[in-house]
Amino acid sequence: MPPITLTIDGREFTVPAGTTILQAAEQAGIPIPVICYHPHLTGNGLCRICSVEAGGRVQSAACVTECGNGMQVQTNSMAVRRGRRTILELLASTVNLEEAPEIQALLDEYAADRHRFPEGERREIPLLDDNPFYQRDYSQCINCWRCVQVCADDAQFAFALNFNGRGFHTTIATFQDQPMPDTTCVFCGQCVGVCPTGALKPKRQALLEEGHDPDEIFFKTKPKRGRRGGVSG
Ligand code: SF4
Ligand code: FES
Repeated sequence: MPPITLTIDGREFTVPAGTTILQAAEQAGIPIPVICYHPHLTGNGLCRICSVEAGGRVQSAACVTECGNGMQVQTNSMAVRRGRRTILELLASTVNLEEAPEIQALLDEYAADRHRFPEGERREIPLLDDNPFYQRDYSQCINCWRCVQVCADDAQFAFALNFNGRGFHTTIATFQDQPMPDTTCVFCGQCVGVCPTGALKPKRQALLEEGHDPDEIFFKTKPKRGRRGGVSG
């Protein structure tokens, strides 16, 4: 496939066919913010924070849009910045972002009003604490899908996570909401590692934050043998 020539913020670049706008911008040293995208996972274009003007009727998600010949990309126009600010304000109105430092930094960078939508319904979901290794607090979940990807065919092939519910009430969940020890989860911890918020947290970290002493934490997080020879909380 012949290479692609395009302009990004007025500068011309030539990139291999198949390069996304995000990759081309990165190579050119032009920053584009991301939330759901992770460099080692399949991009799904879910959060839209990376949206840029690329000549289409609507803005394009840079993380999943391939560069096209003659494309003229604007990564930081007023419309782009306004869109990003609104996305961040909608997120802040819905989800507890207190433990999402990268998103907090974007809220500041884009001067987003965290209280712009005070009537917005909040995600209020009880904490799931069903195993000795990690807790799930989906009140802090932004449905970025990273944990699902890493648990599936991007890395672990365990397929313990998927989604549940529809529309606003869509959450990440196990099959039929089973407790994690009863699923195919192997407790590799990769989901915790890629989560950009406080939705997935190591149990030991949570207990330390609650003020428990290390000996007590060791006892509380010691795996017990389960029915299938696996672990249980
Ligand atoms: S639990 Fe974390 S990684 Fe999974 S979808 Fe929610 S925010 Fe993303
Ligand atoms: S970072 Fe591109 S859509 Fe989320």
